[in-house]
Amino acid sequence: MCGIFAYTGKNGKDAGGVLLDGLLSLEYRGYDSAGIYTPESGSIKTPGAVAELRKKMPASFTGKSGIAHLRWATHGEPTEKNAHPHASGDGEIWVVHNGIIENFKELKAKLVVQGHTFLSDSDTEVLPHLVEEHLKKTKDFEKAALMALNEVRGTYGIALQYKGEPDKIIAARMGSPIVLGLGDGEHFIASDPSPILPHTKKVVFLEDGEVAIITPDGHSITKLDATKVNRIATEIDWNAEEAQKGGYEHFMLKEIMEGPDVIENTLRGRLIAEKGMVKLGGLESVATELAQIERIIIVACGSAHIAGLIGEYMLEEFAGIPVEVEHASEFRYRSPVLNQRTALIAISQSGETLDTLEAVREGKRRGALTLGIVNAVGSTIARETDAGVYNHAGPEVSVASTKALISELAALVLLTIFLGRQRLPGQGGMSEKTAKEIALALKELPNKVQHILDTKQKIEKIAKKYAGVRDFIFIGRKYNYPVAFEGALKLKEISYIHAEGYGAGEMKHGPIAMIDEHFPTFAIVPQDSVYEKNVSNIHEIKARKGPVIALATEGDTEIGKLVNDVLFVPSTLEMLAPILNIVPLQLFAYYFAKEKGLNVDRPRNLAKSVTVE
Ligand code: G6P
Repeated sequence: MCGIFAYTGKNGKDAGGVLLDGLLSLEYRGYDSAGIYTPESGSIKTPGAVAELRKKMPASFTGKSGIAHLRWATHGEPTEKNAHPHASGDGEIWVVHNGIIENFKELKAKLVVQGHTFLSDSDTEVLPHLVEEHLKKTKDFEKAALMALNEVRGTYGIALQYKGEPDKIIAARMGSPIVLGLGDGEHFIASDPSPILPHTKKVVFLEDGEVAIITPDGHSITKLDATKVNRIATEIDWNAEEAQKGGYEHFMLKEIMEGPDVIENTLRGRLIAEKGMVKLGGLESVATELAQIERIIIVACGSAHIAGLIGEYMLEEFAGIPVEVEHASEFRYRSPVLNQRTALIAISQSGETLDTLEAVREGKRRGALTLGIVNAVGSTIARETDAGVYNHAGPEVSVASTKALISELAALVLLTIFLGRQRLPGQGGMSEKTAKEIALALKELPNKVQHILDTKQKIEKIAKKYAGVRDFIFIGRKYNYPVAFEGALKLKEISYIHAEGYGAGEMKHGPIAMIDEHFPTFAIVPQDSVYEKNVSNIHEIKARKGPVIALATEGDTEIGKLVNDVLFVPSTLEMLAPILNIVPLQLFAYYFAKEKGLNVDRPRNLAKSVTVE
């Protein structure tokens, strides 16, 4: 997600230079626009890179303190006007923000009535206006900031500055990380320690619901209700690169570990569990057309295609709409038959994959309603589709997709509830009762994913045990049939060994011929409606001396007697099981490749965003 950085010092350092260098070390987080503010020189913003920002800054740009931002667009496209810092109407209060203000529409409407004018599409802009409003009454910056923060709902990591007290900066955290850097005559606020480390190793991590004030001479922390918080500073011994990875060895591991947060972020504000309803703002404009569609075609590449295959099972079972899933690279070159009652859904993390984009254009030419499930806000696919759902997974740095896939699946469940509830239960649609059940089970997923992540040492042990093999086959059925593809794809991508995903029921029609004591199988075998059938398939493999690792449901005491190694995941609804099962497979591939000493984050021959055919 976005990166924020703020500085205040009395050592004569140029805040402009300090802030720009800080932004450079936050660049790894991924961003689409940048901005900087000092009380002395005002703000400079630009779409694009920090290098562009540097070019735009006049030589006279100066300051002793300031705030800076890298934006990863969520509300509003990546343009200069939407870039941070955002200001109050009187230009006195400035803010940089990482997160989403969920009630910004209500707050904005109230402020407009009070005479405020807004210049951007960003949800963030309500914050400085709110502080301005409270400052008018209280004449106290700190109080005004607290009052404003108590009115907003959503997630934030922010830094606020008031022109009238230029050496003081206020930070606050709710959901988005904030760390304070404690230097000698200088203090810092940042989204992670990487921009702070060149100046000081002494840091304080804020917790949710905490507000901090920094000046050149010190810092103080309170809760949102102004009660004091005492926290001892910690010394960090990470280098800048380790800091960017949150202390993890690779981005891939960091991104897998973000799974619980990613699910929360995709669901946030969209699931009305008590009513069994889903609110998807990005689909409101086409809700009438969606109620009438008779067919869905999903186009995507790589892991996003696998998300689509799982989505097909969900949408057909719970929304009663026929679904086809195609590799975008195939779809665009054949002669598909579509009409206005067809919705073409493009799934893409980057929103820039050329084949997926061209499939969208082909769908449009043929008259389909085009939708996107896209992570990168303002990307080409997001702009060119008629409507869509953003995943809000934050930037993914590692080439092999992990957290983006989890968020795509969560978004597909939301879409399934949305479309299912538009249709009558008797005609393939979803009853309120079923929707409520799914909604409740969805809410439990972040904790269940965390539980799986907590078993990562066991997964590592098994991955190390098998890291010498040259071939692997992954098998599964029904919802976990595509999960088998993903297990194999992850292993291929980062460990370069031959791996295949197969339907467990298809083994006897060919692949079982390959099985011997040197050819292991990874069987995804949760206790679901096809459990018995899966177990029979495992028996067939064991009869040919094939080693088997099983991914099973916690409490299954039988499966361990049949296979060589078992990994357990918590139970959930059958349709949601892929979201859990994919996590240990990602970790398995990660540890397997790591054991082989390979470059996990940058596998050979692959690119993160494939913008060529
Ligand atoms: C590349 C990446 C994959 C990704 C695929 C689709 O091949 O290596 O991890 O799944 O592109 O990317 P997209 O950005 O469209 O989801």
